[in-house]
Amino acid sequence: MHGENAQKIKIRQWDFPVRLFHWALVVAIATAWWTNQEAIINIHELAGYTVLTLVLFRIVWGIVGSSNARFKSFVKGPFAALSYLRKLPKGSEEELAYTGHNPAGGLMVIVLLVLVAVQAVTGLFASENTFLFFDGPLVKYVPSGFADTMNYIHHVNINLIYIAVGLHVTAAIGYLFLKNENLIGPMITGSRKVPASIAARFATIKFKSAWLGVLILVVCGAVVAGIITLARAG
Ligand code: HEM
Ligand code: HEM
Repeated sequence: MHGENAQKIKIRQWDFPVRLFHWALVVAIATAWWTNQEAIINIHELAGYTVLTLVLFRIVWGIVGSSNARFKSFVKGPFAALSYLRKLPKGSEEELAYTGHNPAGGLMVIVLLVLVAVQAVTGLFASENTFLFFDGPLVKYVPSGFADTMNYIHHVNINLIYIAVGLHVTAAIGYLFLKNENLIGPMITGSRKVPASIAARFATIKFKSAWLGVLILVVCGAVVAGIITLARAG
């Protein structure tokens, strides 16, 4: 039964660093996608480094961050994801009461992170030799055959990103309209309304300091900037 009338309680679900990561990633990917034409390749490059920084941050936050942001709390493997999806159509509120990502969402998070990481890393080896003569910062360190392969992956992998993001956004909208479950709001504001019967579960989330998250993000940015600067100078 979906308790339309059940009392709902506002709980805190996503910490600030996870939300900042998510929407910054969306903006950075959109910017990189928008600017892949020659004239604005420098913005493309910057957006790509931003994605690299964000993914690096998310890996660290997945280890030391708030309990529901940690990989070990939501990475359950493909079988758990399938079994969750099988139960979903007749799902109860209980099933939606994961304090973080459900097993299917968790799998998608990993797929998305890997795909955008592959896109950003292959970009470091990508070249444009027709109009701009732009080389990614690592092109000069590798044999041209390797750089060509990375360039090729950079052009092909974007299509996988389209598919994965399409599924991801469709799922979020599906929850909203088919299951009357708004997952998007919590990713923006951090808080979510859940039935009173399961609210206690969310009180078990151990939140880490948002400042720690921001500090880690800044350090990741400095590491990426340092490596790129050294690579360009060398
Ligand atoms: C370039 C596009 C996007 C990418 C690469 C992306 C990637 C991700 C990633 C990596 C996460 C996991 C967050 C974390 O644990 O740190 C996530 C979660 C989420 N994203 Fe996106 N996202 C994109 C666009 C969107 C859009 C446009 C929406 C809204 C319609 C959206 C809604 C959500 C929601 C609701 C969650 C949380 C799901 C849950 O509660 O388990 N995403 N996304
Ligand atoms: C996740 C971040 C990134 C995304 C989403 C992205 C996306 C794209 C897309 C969609 C294309 C056009 C592919 C095609 O025409 O089939 C492209 C081309 C390219 N990207 Fe990226 N990219 C990213 C990161 C980077 C980085 C970090 C660099 C270099 C530092 C880079 C360098 C290039 C180059 C040189 C091209 C070829 C441009 C051309 O042929 O006109 N990209 N990228």
